[in-house]
Formats: sequence, C-alpha cells, structure tokens
Amino acid sequence: MRQSSLVVVSNRLPVDDSVAPDGVCEWRRSPGGLVTALHPLLQHMPATWVGWAGGTGPAPTLADIDGVHMHTVPLSHEDVQDHYEGFANSTLWPLFHDAVEQPVYHRRWWEAYQRINQRFADAAAEAAEPGAVVWVQDYHLQLVPALLRAQRPDLRIGFFLHVPFPPPELFMQLPKRAELLLGMLGADLVGFQRAQAAHNFAQLAAKVLNVPATDDQISVDGREVHVGAFPVSIDMAEMEALARRPDVVARAQQLRHDLGNPQQVILSVDRMDYTKGIEQRLKAYSELIADGHVKVRDTVLVQVAVPTRERVGQYQILRERVEREVGRINGEFGRVGEPAIHYLTQHFDRAELAALYRVADVMAVTPLRDGMNLVAKEYVAARVDDDGILVLSEFAGAAAELSQAYLVNPHDLDGLKLTLIQALRAEPADGTNRMRAMRAHLRQHDIRAWARDYLTTLDQTGSVAARLT
Ligand code: UDP
Ligand code: G6P
Repeated sequence: MRQSSLVVVSNRLPVDDSVAPDGVCEWRRSPGGLVTALHPLLQHMPATWVGWAGGTGPAPTLADIDGVHMHTVPLSHEDVQDHYEGFANSTLWPLFHDAVEQPVYHRRWWEAYQRINQRFADAAAEAAEPGAVVWVQDYHLQLVPALLRAQRPDLRIGFFLHVPFPPPELFMQLPKRAELLLGMLGADLVGFQRAQAAHNFAQLAAKVLNVPATDDQISVDGREVHVGAFPVSIDMAEMEALARRPDVVARAQQLRHDLGNPQQVILSVDRMDYTKGIEQRLKAYSELIADGHVKVRDTVLVQVAVPTRERVGQYQILRERVEREVGRINGEFGRVGEPAIHYLTQHFDRAELAALYRVADVMAVTPLRDGMNLVAKEYVAARVDDDGILVLSEFAGAAAELSQAYLVNPHDLDGLKLTLIQALRAEPADGTNRMRAMRAHLRQHDIRAWARDYLTTLDQTGSVAARLT
C-alpha cells in the first residue's frame, strides 16, 4: 500500500461504476460539484484519493486514472442503503438544505453511518504517511476527523463541508447532534462555503457541547480547532480553454441550429434534486408562455436534469413530477418539431456542457438552497466573449461571490418570472459589464486559490500547498 503526504477522503471518487443497459459494467465520471472541484487539483498533485467507486461489488483495484492515485473503500448493498441513501441522503442532505424535504431519522442508519465512517477513517490511516495532511470532504464523513485522530494523532486533519451547514434550530433536530459536532471537531481546521455556516457551527458547539467557541476558533479537549469560510470554485482556465476549442465552438453552432435557430436559448443544468428548484422554474416558465411573455418559436428552454440517488423515494417522486410537468408544458404549448422545453436526462461530458454553456443566452440557476453551485461558475467561465446573462438564486452559495448576476428568490414565483423577463430583455452592454466583473472575480478565485487558501491555513508548514501547480 502506497502512503502519501496528502490524502483526500470523500464518499465519491471521480469514477462511478455503472451498469450499461446491455448489462456490461462500465466506468464513467461521477456526477456532482465535489468531483468537479477536486479532480483538477488531484491530477496535478502527488496525493491519494480515498473513496467509494460506486457499485456494491468487491472493491475494484483502480490503477491511477488521469494521473490520480485512488484507494477504494468497498460498500455492500446494505452499507449503501443505510449509509449513503439513508443517513447521508435522507437525513443529513434534506436537513442541511433547509429541510425543503422532510429529513428522516432511523436508528439503523446511524449505526451504519458510524460503521462506514470508521471504515473510511481506517482507509485514510493506512494511506497516510507519518505527519501527513488528511483532508476529509463533506457530510457523508463527518465522524472521520475524530475517528482518525484517535488512531493517528500525528496527522494534520482538515474537514470541508461542500453543502450548507444549517442554523441551530434545524440542526438541533438531529438525534445525534453532539456526536456529529464532536466528529467534525476532530479536525484541526473545519471549513465551510460561507461565513454564516461557520457562525452556525460555532453557535452549536457552544450550545450543545458547552465549549468556548467563536466564529474562527473552538476549544475542545485542550486543542484549538480553527473554523472558517472557503468558497469552493472551479478550474476557470480549463473551462475557458474548452469553450474556445474549435470543435466546441462548432458544436455550439450545431446545437443552436438543432434547436431551430431561436432568438434566445435559456439553459438549466442540474442533478435531478429537490434542492435545485426545477419544479418552481418549470412553473414560472410555463406561466411566462401562458401569459404571452415568451413565444415558443422565439425562445427555447433546455433543461438538463441528470438522475441522481435514484433509489431514494424523494428523488423518484421528484422525477415523476418533473416529467409530468415537462410533458404537460410541451403538450400544451409545443408544436410539431418545436417543443417548449428540450428536456435531457443524460449525463454530459465537459466538452458538451461547454458547448451548451456557449449556446445559452440566459443561464437559469435557481436552487432553493445550494452550498455553492459550480454550474453557475462554469457558465461564467465558458462565456469567453463576455456575453450571456446569469440568473442566480440568492440561496446558492455562489450568489455571495457572483453579485453581478440577476439575483432572484426562487420561492417567489412572480419575482422569478419578472427576473427571467428582465434577463431575456437585458441590454447587451449591461450583460457585458456584469459578465466581465464576474469573470474577473473567478480568475482570482479559482479552484487553485481555494485549495491554496485552505491548505495553507491547515498546514502551517506550507509544504503541501507549495506543491499546487
Ligand atoms: N455535470 C456534468 N454533466 C452533466 C451535468 C452536470 O458533468 O450532465 C457537472 C457540472 O458540470 C458541475 C457538477 O456536475 O460541475 C454539478 O455541480 P454543482 O455544484 O452545480 O451541483 P451539485 O450537483 O454538486 O449539487
Ligand atoms: C453534492 C455533494 C457531493 C456529491 C454530489 C453528487 O455536490 O456535496 O458530496 O458527491 O452532490 O451526489 P452523489 O450522491 O452522486 O455523490
């Protein structure tokens, strides 16, 4: 077993073991913002990435893929059911996203959460060389920092939460709230997307654990744990380069042609998740057509909704509702060869996404709650001609940085409709000014700046951050 001086631990690895319709097992890039953020970093740094490779069979031995060294943690069918689909995605995920769906509590899921966190901690301990930095990611693994410290006090341990951290009145619902806080406090540095989350965490530590806590620092077991906000980002240069590639430019032209050369294209790209506000957006769009503000011949909506967590009931119900609504809208307002909504549930690769971003005159990113939302940042990165309008939910972490977007409250249907109309009618010069400002921000705050900022705060010797290229 190879040991590394930097070990990243996340539930997801960048590869997902999926079974094709013909029954053949195939590898594909796994979905979601965590992988988008970490993959370009780990391609260029000597490190080990510990995680689950999807699937429930015996752990595949993965060679280095794309220059990333991976160490897989196998999960059985029962582990996936109780840990990933259960405690992580039916308890924590809804609770941390404002309980927009009802969180579910089961004692069996908590047992699985502890067991699987122990397994990830053991795998990280095996992969870390003496004195290494171990960087634990996201809500699936909140107990890992403390479990790892118990067996490897020599390590420098970081924890970063990609999703929102809820206010005390929501977190207090959790039957195991003290255990989860103590798990995270096993780290030397606990990082969040936004300062409000760090504040919520400090308040909870003081209230539940009765320890001295400020928004920057918490004292526990005679140690000082640092706390802070580190908004995650994207590989801006990679997306810009992709958007400029001649084949991507040609593909964008082809897409516009295939869409019927409309005057305007609105695009949304989401995992099919109830936090993303897909139903609210569809309702707003359908009312805009019904009111006559949008003409189907002139404007098209392209909605990419990649299925996710498909065995969890709340996700199955959402998909059924979205598909019924898309069918209703197309049935009511579409014409032969001219659907009102182009609805796609496929997972697109980076080049196809870049072409879609290039073709979108308006990008509608309207989640009800989102830790960051990297799709919004990718759209800005892909607009190399400084044009295009971003409509962005106030409840996405990205709104704190991309303040020049057309910000909107997605719960306010009339406000959402109005903002979409304003976006469709925006003056090009106004759009350009806003886009330039957002692009300048992202150039300064790309994924390397995020990692450098976090790792220099965590590893005061600076030796790990210095290896970032
Ligand atoms: N994504 C992708 N292919 C698709 C749809 C989405 O690669 O067909 C990627 C997208 O480019 C982005 C990520 O999935 O990098 C979604 O991240 P985001 O932070 O927006 O939301 P999350 O899915 O993590 O909640
Ligand atoms: C969000 C989470 C990630 C997760 C991703 C995709 O971004 O913060 O931890 O990997 O969604 O979800 P999945 O359940 O497919 O891993």
